Amino acid sequence: MISTVGKRHDRQPPIAPGLEILDWADIPALVDLEEILFPGDSPWTWQMFAGELEAGHFYVVHRDQDGAIDGYAGLAITGDEAEVHTIGVRPAAQGAGLGRKLLRQLISAAGDRRMLLEVRTDNDAAIGLYASEGFTRVGIRRRYYQPSGADAYTMARPK
Ligand SMILES: CC(C)(COP(=O)(O)OP(=O)(O)OC[C@H]1O[C@@H](n2cnc3c(N)ncnc32)[C@H](O)[C@@H]1OP(=O)(O)O)[C@@H](O)C(=O)NCCC(=O)NCCS
Repeated sequence: MISTVGKRHDRQPPIAPGLEILDWADIPALVDLEEILFPGDSPWTWQMFAGELEAGHFYVVHRDQDGAIDGYAGLAITGDEAEVHTIGVRPAAQGAGLGRKLLRQLISAAGDRRMLLEVRTDNDAAIGLYASEGFTRVGIRRRYYQPSGADAYTMARPK
């Protein structure tokens, strides 16, 4: 049986081999990764991840061979839409397919919903990943990221 945290999803989507549902005890590891992956863009805090779990959002993690988290991703489902809230892979683990595995897990969890996300306009790696999984640019949000002031594209993936 798959364990859940926060509010229980009515229908837990299948979890891909190698991925796990985020546990509260793993939040500090995600906070550490956020500070490495999103410097200057208000990396998420323990309280913010806790809020995501409290809200019942869908979060998965991946562990390396030593059991340390090297990738994570989160999705918020609201009615007919699903919003990618975060996705990150430890720098040493990037470029080996983990980001795609995590994103595909979110796509699976989104089911037949339209998906949305924001991404820095200069984040070529993430934009390339999203585009290759069917996301297209549908808008731009000026100075979306703070305190850096970087712009974001809104990208969407149709149902
Ligand atoms: C974006 C991120 C999650 C991708 O994870 P990853 O494990 O490196 O990605 P993958 O190895 O699965 O690569 C998937 C695709 O991403 C794209 N990609 C990855 N690295 C890239 C790079 N340096 N330049 C351009 N495209 C790249 C490619 O399309 C790649 O597909 P391919 O290998 O078939 O060419 C990772 O770079 C990351 O954590 N970045 C920092 C955090 C971040 O920016 N998150 C997204 C916030 S919106």
